[in-house]
Amino acid sequence: GLVNSRDLFAKAVNGGYAIPAYNFNNLEQLQAIVMACVETASPVILQVSKGARSYANQTLLRHLAAGAVEYAAELGKAVPIVLHLDHGDSFELCKDCIETGFSSVMIDGSHLSYEDNVALTRKVVEFAHQHDVTVEGELGVLAGIEDEVHAATHTYTEPDQVEDFVGKTGVDSLAIAIGTSHGAFKFKPGEEHSIRLDILAEIEKRIPGFPIVLHGASSVPQELVQMINAHGGKLMDAVGIGEEQLREAARSAVCKINIDSDGRLAMTAAVRKVLDEKPEEFDPRKYLGPARDALKQLYIHKIVNVLGSNGKA
Ligand code: G3H
Ligand code: 13P
Ligand code: ZN
Repeated sequence: GLVNSRDLFAKAVNGGYAIPAYNFNNLEQLQAIVMACVETASPVILQVSKGARSYANQTLLRHLAAGAVEYAAELGKAVPIVLHLDHGDSFELCKDCIETGFSSVMIDGSHLSYEDNVALTRKVVEFAHQHDVTVEGELGVLAGIEDEVHAATHTYTEPDQVEDFVGKTGVDSLAIAIGTSHGAFKFKPGEEHSIRLDILAEIEKRIPGFPIVLHGASSVPQELVQMINAHGGKLMDAVGIGEEQLREAARSAVCKINIDSDGRLAMTAAVRKVLDEKPEEFDPRKYLGPARDALKQLYIHKIVNVLGSNGKA
């Protein structure tokens, strides 16, 4: 069955690699994730966002993820699979996911006051741990789109708060804000394309070996942006986090790296190319199939060249 993230994170922190946390909203994305992880023998976290729940239905997504366990074994390797609620925004939603079979949840209280974040996160942890479900909390606010919360600027995680937060809440992992952001437009033109690995190092000193999570960690590969634009798309100034910075983070206590936007770009580029080059096609499998192949290659690339989770399943 599905597993929680506890053992996976302990091994990842000790081993100097990170587990991929890939968002999925449909069958093709899920297939690509599982195929990539089986081929590379990597554990994986399947993430369901608020947008995914309203697009595809939480129950359907949960059954797809449960089916993925069997699917992986059929493909040749029963890699560990976590089903994780991404950016849970209330105790009730987390409770519902926990009771229906998610093995991990995020309670995102990062937009609340520190005290309210602690109280809400602690309440979720108390409930989750009774069901052997692991919990991710967040301190600090990412710039850009935090689901419904639009933060114009970053509020970096305050290293002085992390020890108190993990102690008071009992969370299993902590998402931090060090300059990553959601979406495909992570830096403004002229802005330096770098994240604050110095703050990460400072955080690690306060909570040595504690599992850290990076949201907004897409790299926005320029060849995908160019491919989209070459086939009728219009993505201007799309830019992401450099792979070498993510690699460095993965070698540290960062043990979960969230990637969604890069998959969206890979799918869109592939679909645009097929529809542009073969205007006679109208069978969805003829463009979703190539999109799935492109996604799978992207996920393999991340695992092998950025996260280092290959061979860890
Ligand atoms: O946290 C952001 C993720 O990329 C999910 O976004 O709610 O549009 O699916 P979404
Ligand atoms: P990206 O938008 O950088 O892919 O981040 C996804 C994410 O953090 C999901 O929680
Ligand atoms: Zn996120």
